[in-house]
Parts: sequence; structure tokens; C-alpha cells
Amino acid sequence: MLYIKLSSVCLVTIGVTTSAAASIGRVASRQDFTLLSDMCLNATQWAGFNPTSYSGYYECFSRVENDDGTADIYLNNVPDHTISVDAENPNQLCQLAQKITLPKPVKTNNNTRVPQADVIAIAVNGVQIFGPLEGGGDNAVYGVDGVGVLCDGHPQPAGLWHYHHPNIDCVEAASTDLVAWALDGFPIYGPLNATKDEVDSILDDCNGIDVADSQYGYQYHVRSRAQVNESLTTNDGPNNTDNWKYFLGCYRGETYTTTLTDSTGICANETTT
Ligand SMILES: *[C@@H]1O[C@H](CO)[C@@H](O)[C@H](O)[C@H]1NC(C)=O
Ligand SMILES: *[C@@H]1O[C@H](CO)[C@@H](O)[C@H](O)[C@H]1NC(C)=O
Ligand SMILES: *[C@@H]1O[C@H](CO)[C@@H](O)[C@H](O)[C@H]1NC(C)=O
Ligand SMILES: *[C@@H]1O[C@H](CO)[C@@H](O)[C@H](O)[C@H]1NC(C)=O
Ligand SMILES: *[C@@H]1O[C@H](CO)[C@@H](O)[C@H](O)[C@H]1NC(C)=O
Ligand SMILES: *[C@@H]1O[C@H](CO)[C@@H](O)[C@H](O)[C@H]1NC(C)=O
Repeated sequence: MLYIKLSSVCLVTIGVTTSAAASIGRVASRQDFTLLSDMCLNATQWAGFNPTSYSGYYECFSRVENDDGTADIYLNNVPDHTISVDAENPNQLCQLAQKITLPKPVKTNNNTRVPQADVIAIAVNGVQIFGPLEGGGDNAVYGVDGVGVLCDGHPQPAGLWHYHHPNIDCVEAASTDLVAWALDGFPIYGPLNATKDEVDSILDDCNGIDVADSQYGYQYHVRSRAQVNESLTTNDGPNNTDNWKYFLGCYRGETYTTTLTDSTGICANETTT
């Protein structure tokens, strides 16, 4: 049953820590988030959810770059667009205020695997982006029998809304649009307007490319579904890559010092519109 799969596998792994897991791109430390239980919507309430009019729930995203090149992102994981009701997903949408500290992005000479069913990036509307995996090893984007997670995302059991689909909010961003920040600190832009073969030759294993005159010198591009070979199986690509590289094929930077914590700062107190 899809319900079971969603509940058991598409989880945020709480409390994953330190170096043992670093080779698959886990963050350095992570604190359990506090469920703001009075700030949740159930499936029925989703139907009427409109972030611009629903008191108590609205987008929050703030990115502050520090002098040492690290960056603090404050987010609340509430999307800035209307969302679809998925009858097979019983989970609530909750406002979860968090702070993520990204390292100063440094391109390495090796690839690090991205987590498959956990956070890999933060969309610029303050909602987490997960790897490509859904329950039972299914591809979350095309799903079972072609029915995947819609491009407006879905919640995991703790109420954390997240995306798997490369068209965030069902909008195909331009290749010049910043859409997210990867947990290694590098920016992620919209898909290249090109065929899969062309993209394969332009982007590296991780979906990255050197951009000499940019602030960070390197950036990722989302791949559209047509630019991913969905016939391959997950995560056994060569060189630590994921075959279903909608957002990232791997990290080229490091996530050893990335932290994800509850936040009482910006975004934590947004209870009124
Ligand atoms: C959702 O919450 C509303 C308002 O509290 C309530 O009336 C409704 O019964 C709930 N629906 C479900 C499916 O829990
Ligand atoms: C990855 O590359 C960086 C520098 O590019 C190096 O310092 C680090 O040791 C490498 N890690 C592994 C596991 O090879
Ligand atoms: C593995 O990845 C590194 C870094 O992108 C690249 O230099 C190397 O050629 C890759 N090796 C293979 C076999 O793809
Ligand atoms: C994408 O490329 C095609 C072929 O070059 C072109 O016709 C089309 O206008 C481009 N689309 C965008 C959004 O740039
Ligand atoms: C996708 O991968 C399968 C399995 O390796 C291969 O047979 C097929 O040619 C690939 N398709 C594309 C478009 O690369
Ligand atoms: C948010 O609320 C908490 C608890 O009341 C308070 O400690 C914190 O200073 C507030 N943060 C901001 C940015 O107002």
C-alpha cells in the first residue's frame, strides 16, 4: 500500500550525525524539529489551503551569507503556492521552523552520494528538496504505474512538506533562475534547454558545471524528466552517482559541516499574516 510506503520510507531521518554517515552526504549534525502542532493542516484543510490567505501559514525563506563564506538559511517548510490533496497520503502539512547552516561551498575532486529519501537541498521558497526515492525504492517522480509525487510536493509523516519533482510548483524554471541551494552550499539553477545527450555532455556527474565568472565558480542545474533516464535503477550509477539525478547526481562540495536545527529565529514566529 502506498500509505505504508510513504509512512515508513519517505522519512526525514532524525538525529543522523557525524562522520560515519558523511560519505553519503549526511549533514554534520541535526536536531529534532519541534512540531508546531497548532500549525498543521489535515488533508481536508489542504483543499482550502491558499498560502496568501490562510492565516498562520505562509512562506518564509531567508538566506544570510556570513563573512566566513558560510550561509544561514531560515525556513519554515510551508510552500508559497497552492497544493493538491493526495488521498493516499494521510500526513498533515505543518509549519516547521528550521535553520540550516551551509558551508562555504568548495568544489572537491570527488563525488559524494546524495541521500535518496532525505533532504538534499532547500528550495528558494523555504521548502526542503528530497532525493528521488519513494517507498520501496520507487522513483518518487514517476512513482508506481506512472503516478508519482506531484510537482507541488507532499508531506512526510512529521508534516514536513518537500519536493521530489524537478519542476518545483509545476513551473519549469529557466536555466538562469536560481531555484535552490544544495546542502554543500552551491546554488542550483533551472534545467538547461537541451536534450538529455546534450545535458550529459555539458554537466558533470553531479549536474554541475564550472562558471568561472560567478560568485561560487560552480553551480548545479536541475534536470527535466526528459533529461533523466528513468529506466535505470536508482543510485547505482558509476562514481557515486544517482541515476535519477533530477536535482543532484551527487555532491561535488562537502556537507560535513552542514547543520540543520530547529529555529527560534526568523521564520519561527510567523503566526499571523
Ligand atoms: C480536519 O480538521 C478540521 C478542522 O479541525 C476538522 O473539521 C476535520 O474533521 C478534519 N478532517 C480530518 C480528515 O481529520
Ligand atoms: C575529496 O576531494 C578533496 C579535495 O578535492 C579531498 O580533500 C578529500 O580528501 C577527498 N575525499 C575523498 C573521500 O577522496
Ligand atoms: C569520477 O568523477 C570525477 C569527478 O567528477 C571525474 O574526474 C572522473 O573522471 C570520474 N570517473 C569516472 C569513471 O566517471
Ligand atoms: C529551447 O530551445 C529551442 C530550440 O533551440 C527553442 O526553440 C526554444 O525557444 C527554447 N526555449 C526556451 C525557453 O528558451
Ligand atoms: C536508459 O537506460 C537503459 C538501461 O541501461 C538503456 O537501455 C537505454 O538506452 C537508456 N536510455 C537512454 C535514453 O539513454
Ligand atoms: C520567536 O519566539 C521565541 C519564543 O517566544 C523567542 O524566544 C524568539 O526570540 C523569537 N524570535 C524572533 C526572531 O522574534
